Amino acid sequence: MMRMRLPCLGRGSSVGGVSAAAAAAAVLRLRPGPSHTLAAWRLHSWVPAAADSRLAEITSAEDVPVPLCRRPPVHEEALAALMDWRAAVLQRIEAVGDAFESADGGPGRALLQREVTWALDDAVSAYRDARDGPWRPCNWQQLEAEVRTAQARRRQSGGGTAGAAPAPEDGWQVQLRAPVAELRALWQRRLEERVPFQYLLHAAHWREFVLSVGPGVLVPRPETEGMIEMAAAALDAAPALADAPWADLGTGSGALAVGLATLLARRRRGRWTQRQAGAAAPAGSSEQTEPAVWAVDLSPVAAAYAAANAAACAPPGAVRVVRGSWWAPLAHLRGRLGGVLTNPPYIPRAEMGALQQEVGAHEPHGALDGGPGPGLDSLEVICDGAGDMLVDGGYIAIETAGGEQAHRVRQLLDASGVFERAAVVDDCFGVGRFVEAFRRPR
Ligand SMILES: C[S@@+](CC[C@H](N)C(=O)[O-])C[C@H]1O[C@@H](n2cnc3c(N)ncnc32)[C@H](O)[C@@H]1O
Repeated sequence: MMRMRLPCLGRGSSVGGVSAAAAAAAVLRLRPGPSHTLAAWRLHSWVPAAADSRLAEITSAEDVPVPLCRRPPVHEEALAALMDWRAAVLQRIEAVGDAFESADGGPGRALLQREVTWALDDAVSAYRDARDGPWRPCNWQQLEAEVRTAQARRRQSGGGTAGAAPAPEDGWQVQLRAPVAELRALWQRRLEERVPFQYLLHAAHWREFVLSVGPGVLVPRPETEGMIEMAAAALDAAPALADAPWADLGTGSGALAVGLATLLARRRRGRWTQRQAGAAAPAGSSEQTEPAVWAVDLSPVAAAYAAANAAACAPPGAVRVVRGSWWAPLAHLRGRLGGVLTNPPYIPRAEMGALQQEVGAHEPHGALDGGPGPGLDSLEVICDGAGDMLVDGGYIAIETAGGEQAHRVRQLLDASGVFERAAVVDDCFGVGRFVEAFRRPR
């Protein structure tokens, strides 16, 4: 019987690779189990896991919430209020201990404590040590260091006696991107309802980007970052693929589309510079006449988040978000795609009940549920259509549950006779998770 190893999501990772911090964070991971018969394709109906009235409000990029770290710092409060809240929430985390972890593989005490620090880092923008003094820009960890230094200085100079400077926790003020009352309410939801940390701050740190996320859109996982490295390696082997449009199928927050568009922009710049030095533009080159990346999703909420994140993080005009099922909205690109990256729903339906609460109760089931049996519903449709859509030599990389499922997908590509060099590629945790292949010449 397969069982889900459930995600305690980490705080971003390194540019151009997967950091130790990201690798240390547990991620959505499926242990390989017994194989099942292949299931017929079923179009996912869009059913969010938990009814959330805010879902109905997200219909376009303008509705997408701004990540906490990009909100304006318009709140001024006493440092004492912030420190009281922090002490109270750390006390509650002590009381929770490792209960979530033992119940369903959820976040342990240490991760919950780190989340409080990350939230404070995002919330704090400046401090001042006197009511009419200048604001000094800082994040929480810098402020904490200042507070410790001031406290030590005060102790040495007989602090507490008449005429001494007030203690930081008495006299200092902080400039915040969210009021303390909001942080208090968010953490109540974190610990009582187990809402994913990233949903509370509307921020997922993924590669060098801060992406907005919220109910209705999957929080991008650190291991998915590896697909951008895979695309970079494919472009190293076949640089001309950078001139053709690419696709991200099941874009969700738009993470892969944004990462890919940034990569393609760099590669195209390099190639155009070379061409200006004399070489001709390749036939069929899309140059700047169309987006570098087509980002597809069935979910209107995901499409809105992807559009907002592309506008905030990708080169201007480089990503076009289209709604529809897998290849359907890309019919006009038949035989023209240089590559496709995709992280479709792949969890076998029978395993959906074993998800950790942050995922099962809050993340959209339409992003996770791979259908009955081995969870191959989406994977099969994508593999079936890829040969028609790619240029000769075009590249495909697919995220899977890993193990047995990855080998099934590689077999699908091999058996089609359309692909060559199909291989299973390890993720940053050493799990054989991704499958890649190149389209054979027609
Ligand atoms: C596992 S999530 C991946 C999201 C994002 N690419 C990432 O890596 O974080 C799968 C995505 O596929 C989308 N999806 C599900 N069925 C789809 C379909 N038939 N056509 C297009 N997208 C679909 C979901 O809405 C979801 O955003």
